[in-house]
Amino acid sequence: MILYFTGTGNSRYVADYLSKLTDDELVCINDYLKENKKGETFTSNRPFVFVTPVYAWRIPRIVSMFIASNKFVGNQKAYFAVTCGDSIGNAEKYIRRLCDIKGFHHMGTAQIRMPENYLAMFNVPDESTCNKIIKNASYPIRKLADSINSEGTLAPVKASIAGIVESGIVNGLFYKFQIKTSGFHVTDKCTRCRKCEEVCPLNNISFLDNRPVWGNECTHCMACICRCPAEAIEYKKASLGRRRYTNNKEVTL
Ligand SMILES: Cc1cc2nc3c(=O)[nH]c(=O)nc-3n(C[C@H](O)[C@H](O)[C@H](O)COP(=O)(O)O)c2cc1C
Repeated sequence: MILYFTGTGNSRYVADYLSKLTDDELVCINDYLKENKKGETFTSNRPFVFVTPVYAWRIPRIVSMFIASNKFVGNQKAYFAVTCGDSIGNAEKYIRRLCDIKGFHHMGTAQIRMPENYLAMFNVPDESTCNKIIKNASYPIRKLADSINSEGTLAPVKASIAGIVESGIVNGLFYKFQIKTSGFHVTDKCTRCRKCEEVCPLNNISFLDNRPVWGNECTHCMACICRCPAEAIEYKKASLGRRRYTNNKEVTL
């Protein structure tokens, strides 16, 4: 079973690709979060494959919590495909820890470089660069699919000293000081289409006086800001003039 969480589509794309190459079922974690479903049991005779973006060099806390709070029955082997704009740092260490708690046999973590989507801090690459990055991702995706199909283990991801610090202390600081909803706001371009409310995986956006307001559950997935058809959402001043990014590509083998 291939389970994925996504903000802007990269992890959906990778999960879909893996599902086609392994002929395995695809489950969208966003749907479970959206419906606030808890204590679910997922059953699979094939290994569990979790596909997720990296947030501050670790898998998002929302994904860790999803894994920790649901039951996974059947095959106890678990693979992780972690999409990133640059590097997952030492994320694997924390994935292993989570696997130990859940009783999963960690079969490996694959780092899959995809276009950067964190426009609250960084520029998104231009379209042709994004296309090249996505094309280059085919190789690690196919390699991972081969390992899943043969139920083989992956080589550990090597983390640099910087990666160890980033996944450690920097991750904690990032969640404490950066992941806040207070910076999101709409401009006059808002058409009140309510798309932001629909795409927020955490149901953190509601409408008040015909304008979106953000609650406190945000995980900075960038879905609202990147999927707004009118580009009416900004994050403080950081997102001004920055290209919005979504990966809506269909996987063709
Ligand atoms: C809150 C946040 C934090 C991120 N942190 C990192 C990071 O530490 N390292 C990195 O290489 N990319 C980082 N990124 C980029 C994403 O991991 C990457 O673009 C990912 O493929 C997005 O997946 P999605 O489209 O499925 O949401 C971050 C993105 C967000 C939104």
